Amino acid sequence: MTASPLDYEYPRTIVMRNSGNQVDPSRDYLFESRLQGLLRNRGMQSLSQLVSALRSGPGAALERSVAEAMTINETSFFRDTATFDYLRETLLPALIENRRDTRSLRFWSAASSSGQEAYSIAMMLREHFPLLSGWRIDILGTDLSAEMVSRSAAGRYQRIEINRGLPARFLVKYLVRTGDEWEIHPDIKRLCRFQQRNLCQPAIAPDKFDVVFLRNVMIYFPQETRHQVLLTMHRALPPDGILFLGLSEQPRMDSHWQTMLTPKTVWYKPIR
Ligand SMILES: C[S@@+](CC[C@H](N)C(=O)[O-])C[C@H]1O[C@@H](n2cnc3c(N)ncnc32)[C@H](O)[C@@H]1O
Repeated sequence: MTASPLDYEYPRTIVMRNSGNQVDPSRDYLFESRLQGLLRNRGMQSLSQLVSALRSGPGAALERSVAEAMTINETSFFRDTATFDYLRETLLPALIENRRDTRSLRFWSAASSSGQEAYSIAMMLREHFPLLSGWRIDILGTDLSAEMVSRSAAGRYQRIEINRGLPARFLVKYLVRTGDEWEIHPDIKRLCRFQQRNLCQPAIAPDKFDVVFLRNVMIYFPQETRHQVLLTMHRALPPDGILFLGLSEQPRMDSHWQTMLTPKTVWYKPIR
């Protein structure tokens, strides 16, 4: 059954309310494709039926499921390699020097999707910074989607996923083949933990991180939400902390973030 144009306005509002994600009307077709699984699970025949169920609320769980199903989870290991190179070669050595008394480093992969970003950080630390083995390392991955969070925690990837960005020697060293899939080695897994969190909800950062990856998620938010999320990140980072955004994203908050343009990549320094 084809949904009438009227049907999309309401689910668009639901998605915005529950995830802060804007669905442009030109991409309404995504509702049809991305909500198929949810319709099946709920025994529903059509999007119109789902919209009626949403309208007849209260259905907080159903609303959240719709918002989660509409997220774009595109990611890969070592995405934007130059960013990881610059972190490894220049930023981390300085940060490690600054933290030699506390011997503790915290990373936040905010909007971690299926976990490749968090595991890339962990593999990089194990491979290039053996001196950190006695340090307290915490890599937190958070995402709106419960399904992504449980996939991340499982740390199992298909061939198509490990073929994207993962150096062959890392595959051999840090993943273990299990049937048709490859699983992240327990030594790497234990550096990482994953939680479901909505970046648009306040008090999202109860504690401090040294490095925040907030990449390729703000593109889905309206300007006001971007501003709020960037304030949260500002609170989460100390003066020598590091923020990475996606390469097409910018904070546009000159009072809070200094743009650090390097030949390889760009990162952002909190201004105090
Ligand atoms: C395109 S992926 C980016 C993944 C990774 N950061 C990267 O750059 O490869 C965007 C992720 O943001 C998550 N997301 C969208 N809205 C969110 C929100 N309000 N709070 C937390 N995560 C959100 C989605 O579930 C999705 O996994």
